[in-house]
Amino acid sequence: MIKVGIVGTGMISELFAEGAKFVDGMEVVAIQSRDETKAKEFARKHDVELTFTEYERMLMDVRIDAVYIGLPNSLHFAYASKALRAKKITILEKPFLSNLGELDELIDISEETRTMVFEMNRVLCLPNTQVIRDHLDDIAPVRMITMNFSQYSRKYNDLLAGKTPNVFSDEYSGGALVDLGVYSVHLMVDLFGMPDDITYIASKLPNSIDVSGNLTLIYDGFIASLVQSKNSRCDNRITIQGEKGTIYASPTASRIDKVILDLGEKKDITVAHEYESMTYTLHEIVRVINEKDEETYRKQLRHIRTVMEVLCAARKSAGIKFTADRE
Ligand SMILES: NC(=O)c1ccc[n+]([C@@H]2O[C@H](COP(=O)([O-])OP(=O)(O)OC[C@H]3O[C@@H](n4cnc5c(N)ncnc54)[C@H](OP(=O)(O)O)[C@@H]3O)[C@@H](O)[C@H]2O)c1
Repeated sequence: MIKVGIVGTGMISELFAEGAKFVDGMEVVAIQSRDETKAKEFARKHDVELTFTEYERMLMDVRIDAVYIGLPNSLHFAYASKALRAKKITILEKPFLSNLGELDELIDISEETRTMVFEMNRVLCLPNTQVIRDHLDDIAPVRMITMNFSQYSRKYNDLLAGKTPNVFSDEYSGGALVDLGVYSVHLMVDLFGMPDDITYIASKLPNSIDVSGNLTLIYDGFIASLVQSKNSRCDNRITIQGEKGTIYASPTASRIDKVILDLGEKKDITVAHEYESMTYTLHEIVRVINEKDEETYRKQLRHIRTVMEVLCAARKSAGIKFTADRE
């Protein structure tokens, strides 16, 4: 049984605790919050045994094998490095890290300590992602792709009220691309690998962080246009157009509920999802750990690197700078 300690009591940690309940071989045993009342409340709500206010104390506890880090993006590196040094298997929320320098350093620590690190990547393990993979040949060659992930954020109202929520902060490595677009990038990298060219045109705040934007990825023979917005909404959809037909998937790569194959006539090829998207990823993480599946583990790390290369190149092209880039 892999015993997990959750770090942070945000909404995403709640989803993790719920999602983990459906995973054999994994149990949430601890919660860490800076605020004792929040830790106790989370523990009561999710039936978690141990509570901590100090992260280091949680890392020292031998009853915990792994940590899940559900903290703002710029904190991922520091918290994950400490966890790996304490030899705790580490599961990081997306986006994995702020930049490639952090990635190199974290992978080195993970190798040195022989401790695995994973991304809570909802995209790769979704059954409907496999449906898309299985039908790409039917429409080949691919000629045009559009993906839209627009979600009006409550935090945007805070921004309008003069605050800087973490998700719109350069200090916390925020922005529409790394918050929403990252899911589309994961799907593109999974299906097609590294693009030949990357251009991101964004609507930016004075701190350089993107509120919305259009990421263009150029591949041999086709172009993908990935739209992400945190200050508008629409019926999100993924459209993969080929010479022989089209695949429509919805709503977003983070949660593909429906897949339609159009080869002249539209056919619903959706596989019904049994669980929330996180649960599929956790099943796979438990399998990789228990079976010591090095090959899949290394493939996952290569995938993460390519996604981070795309995100960093996109940020560079749009002039989006994180505080973490200067450290
Ligand atoms: N929110 C979502 O829908 C969602 C969905 C998918 C993925 N994610 C990912 O989940 C991560 C967290 O996102 P979020 O929107 O939940 O962030 P958040 O609300 O800003 O922060 C999450 C938690 O982190 C802790 N925290 C906040 N600031 C901190 C600080 N300065 N130092 C130490 N701990 C701090 C807090 O927990 P305590 O007060 O208990 O310490 C807070 O509840 C991000 O990487 C995001 O990309 C979020």
